[in-house]
Amino acid sequence: MGGLARRAAIFQLIAKDHPHVLHLDAGNMFGRRTEAARAQTVFLLDEVEKLGYEVLGVGQWDLNYGLDFLREQAAKHGFHYVCANLHLGDDSELLFDPYAVVKVNGIRVGIISVLGQSNDQRYKIVTMSPKVDDFVVDSPRDALEKYVPELRKKSDLVVLLSNANARDTRQLLLDLGPEAAVDICVEGADSKQYRRLNKVGDTYLVSANPQGKYLGQLDLMLSHDGKIQDAVLKIHELGKQAPEDETIKKRVDTFLEANKQKGHTARLKPTPTMGDPNEHFLGVQRCANCHKKEYEVFRTSAHAKAWQTLVSKGQTNNPECVACHVTGWNWYGGYDPGVATDGRNILFNVQCEACHGYGSEHTRDGQWAKKAKDSCVQCHTEKFDPDFDYETRWSAIAH
Ligand code: HEC
Ligand code: HEC
Ligand code: HEC
Ligand code: HEC
Repeated sequence: MGGLARRAAIFQLIAKDHPHVLHLDAGNMFGRRTEAARAQTVFLLDEVEKLGYEVLGVGQWDLNYGLDFLREQAAKHGFHYVCANLHLGDDSELLFDPYAVVKVNGIRVGIISVLGQSNDQRYKIVTMSPKVDDFVVDSPRDALEKYVPELRKKSDLVVLLSNANARDTRQLLLDLGPEAAVDICVEGADSKQYRRLNKVGDTYLVSANPQGKYLGQLDLMLSHDGKIQDAVLKIHELGKQAPEDETIKKRVDTFLEANKQKGHTARLKPTPTMGDPNEHFLGVQRCANCHKKEYEVFRTSAHAKAWQTLVSKGQTNNPECVACHVTGWNWYGGYDPGVATDGRNILFNVQCEACHGYGSEHTRDGQWAKKAKDSCVQCHTEKFDPDFDYETRWSAIAH
């Protein structure tokens, strides 16, 4: 965010000497999976549109707020997001156009983008949406070998925006056959190489700095048919010494100040209306002391990872979500992020007492196990589990 006003000022300087500029971003412009970061991303995209970006690659992070959000924002701002190897599990159709062609000073520039296929957790695509994320990333090499030849026919110059990691991107460029070779590759994030203009085979390779602290400017000398005669890379630092666009700086400051105030009032607090203030939740570890067998079933069930699900979705502070992913939300003595027992918050996840009720009522009436049968549909509602059937669901957690 700090870099926006500086980025704008440098764009203005570049525009003075260079009338023909194409603004590209490899992707991963979006923030983390939190409500505050989503608000910031909405603001950021308004500004990025004004900066004149035309074609952007889709990075894993750009899906943090879900596919619908990304598509809405793209439509609203007229950005062209491209990605040649992303689809949903049950549908082989690509989610974005594989490539775009933009004319710059009469030269047709074809821009294609791919995601990496690394097994690294950081690359796994998870969104804030309550849906299960079944994004599938196809082989980048297969995608390029399929689409680059047709793109080549429509363009004078082909640019690849790669969101594979540094090593995979280099290997990819080496593996591509001559039909699928690209002229320039902009690689999403390589914290070491971003100052250098590299060459892999005949492809010029430039790397973005992952923290957005630098702006790369690639000056190209082209022949009439788009062949690169010469290429020079300049790196602009967006640090404190860089010039700033005052109007944008003001807008950024105003936004950050307003958002900070919102952040302070956002702490999640339950309003208990259910249960009994005289009863207590004991937490699953207490039950485990005597019920080893039942605990083993719980530990390996989906209920024991319900909290982690919200963590990965950045929704631990959303009352719309915690209700069913913790124990005793809005019950007296139930889950409250502000209250910790023994220095720990013990009521994460859907524990024994989410179904059985207060541990302090334990076996007083002998009806406990029976009561738990009715608990399921409090959370397994029409909306969140449309196929709920007690017998099948119970068989998965029977104890
Ligand atoms: C000090 C040991 C001990 C602890 C701690 C304990 N239980 Fe029990 N629990 C028992 C015994 C003993 C029985 C009765 C024998 C049986 O049914 O296995 C029982 C019975 C039950 C029953 C069936 C009885 C009924 O009313 O339907 C449930 C359900 C149950 N426990 C759940 C829990 C849960 C949940 C916790 C944690 C909050 C817990 N227990 C903690 C020892 C314990
Ligand atoms: C407090 C809310 C809550 C209650 C009560 C509850 N569940 Fe769940 N259940 C969840 C949540 C949340 C998940 C998903 C956890 C995850 O994967 O993050 C889940 C997942 C499951 C799963 C795994 C589903 C799958 O597709 O893999 C089964 C099986 C299940 N519940 C059965 C039951 C049964 C049977 C009952 C009643 C005896 C019950 N649940 C009561 C919240 C609840
Ligand atoms: C009314 C209760 C309820 C609420 C509220 C709720 N969930 Fe869930 N959630 C469930 C249940 C039940 C399941 C298991 C459904 C199934 O397996 O079919 C589940 C499953 C999930 C899963 C799938 C877990 C997996 O790995 O299979 C995700 C992700 C999830 N919820 C996220 C959220 C988010 C994010 C929110 C807030 C927007 C939310 N949930 C709000 C009850 C709820
Ligand atoms: C998702 C809801 C749910 C969770 C979580 C859950 N239980 Fe249960 N439990 C039930 C239901 C429903 C029954 C009754 C099944 C029946 O009678 O058919 C039951 C039965 C029991 C029984 C009685 C078994 C018997 O043979 O009569 C015990 C004991 C018990 N649970 C202990 C626990 C303990 C301890 C935990 C946590 C480690 C736990 N349960 C977690 C729903 C749950």
